Amino acid sequence: MNDPTTIRRLYGRRQGHALRAGQAALVEELLPRIAVPTDGALDARRLFGDERPLQVEIGFGAGEHLAGQAMAAPGTGFIGCEPFLNGVVGALGHIRDGALDNVRLHMGDALEVIERLPDESLERVYLLHPDPWPKARHAKRRMMNHGPLDLIAAKLKPGAEFRLGTDDPTYCRWSMMVMNQRRDFVWQAQTARDFLERPQDWPETRYERKARRQGHEVWYFRYTRI
Ligand SMILES: C[S@@+](CC[C@H](N)C(=O)[O-])C[C@H]1O[C@@H](n2cnc3c(N)ncnc32)[C@H](O)[C@@H]1O
Repeated sequence: MNDPTTIRRLYGRRQGHALRAGQAALVEELLPRIAVPTDGALDARRLFGDERPLQVEIGFGAGEHLAGQAMAAPGTGFIGCEPFLNGVVGALGHIRDGALDNVRLHMGDALEVIERLPDESLERVYLLHPDPWPKARHAKRRMMNHGPLDLIAAKLKPGAEFRLGTDDPTYCRWSMMVMNQRRDFVWQAQTARDFLERPQDWPETRYERKARRQGHEVWYFRYTRI
């Protein structure tokens, strides 16, 4: 297995604008109630008190996709990971407004959480508009590298799904090349529509909306873990 620590240094912003009082209250009151424990092995029972199916979103941004999926599947446990505080606040707002009790959040590196889950325990992993790191010398920082993908593959159940969305042409080509080298995932697409049109059960994210407004193409990849 390749070293999943290749991208272990967290790059990118941890905080943007200062929080308003209501947002700070969400971080102080709601976040501790639904935060993923900071150490030890994780499973559905520890996180949700039962044996429900689990899904993980890596880098949920402001949380609209995470909340949309959680609302659509109340019997599934969702683990959202995002190091950016202002994004976490956005997700907390959705969780409060939707009275969602099936979401747990980790403010930090998603791989730290994924590696503490049992092998073959996840039914889906989402990676939507990951930071593109467009310069070739930064390619190792991309989440779509064999180290992180080995870890994700190990934690997905056979037949489970890995979803990647991107509007970045370089990242799109790079991801297709990387996934093409793997024998543990099959691309589900049969026709171009399958990756050019957003599937109905794929809520739009903030980055995706912004990309479309800027006239970018968006690609939706769905892979099955063999
Ligand atoms: C371009 S944004 C996309 C956000 C969101 N998925 C969307 O589509 O609107 C990429 C996000 O990934 C987060 N991120 C970067 N590295 C991460 C990591 N190791 N674990 C979890 N999130 C990460 C960043 O903080 C950022 O919010």
